[in-house]
Amino acid sequence: MDQDQIRDLAQAVKQARHFVVLTGAGASTESGLPDFRSKTGLWRGVDPVSLISMSALRRRPVEFYQFYRMRFSHLWGAKPNPVHHVLASLQKEGLLKRVITQNVDGLHQAAGSEGVIELHGSLRECLCLDCGRSFPARLIDVDVQSAADIPRCPECGGMLKPGVVLFEEPLPADAIEAAIDEATQSDLFLVVGSSLEVGPANQLPVLAVQSGAQLGVLNLTPTFVDHRARWVIREKAGQVLTALAAELGIPARVENRSTGDLGEATPG
Ligand code: APR
Ligand code: ZN
Repeated sequence: MDQDQIRDLAQAVKQARHFVVLTGAGASTESGLPDFRSKTGLWRGVDPVSLISMSALRRRPVEFYQFYRMRFSHLWGAKPNPVHHVLASLQKEGLLKRVITQNVDGLHQAAGSEGVIELHGSLRECLCLDCGRSFPARLIDVDVQSAADIPRCPECGGMLKPGVVLFEEPLPADAIEAAIDEATQSDLFLVVGSSLEVGPANQLPVLAVQSGAQLGVLNLTPTFVDHRARWVIREKAGQVLTALAAELGIPARVENRSTGDLGEATPG
């Protein structure tokens, strides 16, 4: 690890007026959750739009729920890792203004981060496509082998979908507006663990740079904004952020709220 880069980034964090971090699935791989597009990612050999889109839910509901059953099996025992802990500590110390995440695992909140902007929703709950009511995610964490097993809304019998943004769905307007506001206000913007292959989240670092922010990219593989970044660190995010916390003299661990039964966790 390039200690000079860490020192330089730590200096920038100390001097930043509005430091913002955007995380992707790479922030949670050290918690045992697979990402999507790296060699061991969930999308290896899979076209995600054919599996987790609104049309896939309607056309192939059995495969759709089986995918989420597998996702839940990864999630239940997942705990925050140093990435989540350090970001929560930086916020507690008043050095980090906001975490924007593409992740739906709730691990930032479990580590103590406040006001997390969840661009792609969360797996904490599920929603009825007919009456719009929301329920704990447990309702759709069921073994679906045939159409007869498909979980239904307890109120109206409608189809249930996880509380995440599926392909072919718009992002929650309040979340994307808040994220754009944070990116344009930022003077220091750090991407942690994202391939930046999916919009509109991937436009946030561009917006930040256009607004005058210094950009850092902490990601194991190249991204399309690397050439605009002051820091490009291709190392494991947990180690780098732990070294950054040490350089700043802050504790790397704040708290460890259990996400427990994801269906119970309150939204962050
Ligand atoms: N440290 C640093 N980088 C890591 C680590 C790690 N420990 N583990 C993985 N990475 C990197 C991978 O190299 C990869 O480039 O994290 C990146 C994760 O990229 P993706 O798998 O594409 O995940 P993400 O960018 O979050 O995907 C965005 O796509 O499928 C949709 O809705 C889904 O939110 C997701 C969106
Ligand atoms: Zn309903």
